Amino acid sequence: VDGTRVPALVIGTGYGGSVAALRLAEAGVDVHMLEMGMAWDTPGPDGKIFANTTSPDLRSYWLRTKTKQPLSNFLGFPLDKAVPRHTGILDAEEFGGITVYQGRGVGGGSLVNGGMAVTPKRENFGAVLPSVDADEMYGTYYPRANAGLGVNTIDPAWFETAECYQYARVGRKHAERSGFPFVFVPDVYDWDYMKREAAGTATKSALAGEILYGNNHGKKSLQQTYLARARATGRVTVSPLHKVTSVTPAAGGGYTVTVDQIDTGGETVASKTMTADRVFFAAGSVGTSKLLVKLRATGALPHLNGEVGKGWGDNGNVMCGRANHMWDATGSLQSSIPTAGIDNWAAGGAFAEVAPLPTGIETYASFYLSITKNPHRAEFTWNAAAGRAELNWQTAWKQPSIDAAKTIFDKINAKEGTIYRTDLFGVYKIWGDHLTYHPLGGAVLGRATDNYGRLHGHPGLYVIDGALIPGNTSVNPFVTITALAERNIEKIIAADL
Ligand code: FDA
Repeated sequence: VDGTRVPALVIGTGYGGSVAALRLAEAGVDVHMLEMGMAWDTPGPDGKIFANTTSPDLRSYWLRTKTKQPLSNFLGFPLDKAVPRHTGILDAEEFGGITVYQGRGVGGGSLVNGGMAVTPKRENFGAVLPSVDADEMYGTYYPRANAGLGVNTIDPAWFETAECYQYARVGRKHAERSGFPFVFVPDVYDWDYMKREAAGTATKSALAGEILYGNNHGKKSLQQTYLARARATGRVTVSPLHKVTSVTPAAGGGYTVTVDQIDTGGETVASKTMTADRVFFAAGSVGTSKLLVKLRATGALPHLNGEVGKGWGDNGNVMCGRANHMWDATGSLQSSIPTAGIDNWAAGGAFAEVAPLPTGIETYASFYLSITKNPHRAEFTWNAAAGRAELNWQTAWKQPSIDAAKTIFDKINAKEGTIYRTDLFGVYKIWGDHLTYHPLGGAVLGRATDNYGRLHGHPGLYVIDGALIPGNTSVNPFVTITALAERNIEKIIAADL
């Protein structure tokens, strides 16, 4: 790696980066991908690549000495425990007012997410990406993204009888009894594999509660889809445990990229430089934004405009649980892959997924992650004295999300005669309002970049990940991130190469 020159360098191996790498390689361009996380292709001492959700170990967290589980408590008891500091798979990155969960490793967020693959309703798209032609997206790029990701939907007949989806059927019953539209949510999990897990003929993954720290079987992460195809072209190489620290114009044209190679303890073992004709920022909303505000402030990329760092949102994420009556048991066996949603976006600004609580015991709890129409937007800035990027999100900014979620769950509680759980996020705390799984924005399309992700001020630099999307997608974001990347890279290949 050190000292080499490449035509195209991609920073990050999540959705945006994987789409860019595949399409550039298919167009005949050699691509090098740099990824700060691990490769996740080698089993640990237990024979498994990924740790189970219920027993986090050193593989589970990015450079922490104590876990930071999204559901921090159960029956009031704190769940977090000590783990060895290691370049694990899930980063719980803490800013002043919010913890932002992100995947780390080759495959980015696809390694740790629920695989819920949702295309926004077309009538909502204008508010998601106002400058993008919806006809093109729904005619060409959303279908291309869904095909590339391997999106599929649960067999509705199997859903009705599967023990592992009792929690989702209870969620549906309560939604429908309160008059809310219930929808099946597509996913990238292989549903035929899950049927075999349920039948006892395949090694359990979703049915063993695997999700947050990776799935050992069944889920099609980017490693099985876009990245596999990219590698098969023979034009794409990937360097894991390589963290980009700087990008600056090179004397002879193109850009010099500075990289720290790290070990699994997070220590730098080598500093390297590469030169690239074109650089694609695909480090995720947070990773790309942090890099760009630093590079602008330190003078490495002085011509980036004032929009860089702005327009960041949390996709309105907020969590809550409800305590059911004894006759509405949600099941001790719960598939970790959610498949049910409650759509109250039009009336209440909330789309809630009926989420699993795979504890292995009967909890009588219904658990939900809501995506809401939250108007607040935060900004990343570079704190030179501290040498780090900061985000000015305020915890109180979650209130509109709580209000939106309440349009669903207050009504269901009233109808069912039930109450909120108060033991999942602390002691007597109803709302999980301290976190997001869906960071979006920071280098917004048409503001920090042109309408195809070309960064203003520095030709040959592109943003191609969730940083382009201005803070909300009305549903889970990765299909939109992938579809937008497909649209932009097609234009860039045709016009710039
Ligand atoms: P993404 O974050 O995927 O990839 C960026 C990559 O860049 C990472 O691998 C990172 O390590 C790397 N990187 C960062 N900085 C770097 C640097 N300086 N140098 C080198 N590499 C660097 N979405 C959805 O649609 N459905 C769902 O069900 C879920 N569920 C879900 C659960 C959980 C727990 C999480 C954390 C997230 C989700 N998501 C989700 C969100 C989804 O995973 C997320 O929106 C996408 O992964 C974002 O894709 P990007 O391409 O923007 O970046």
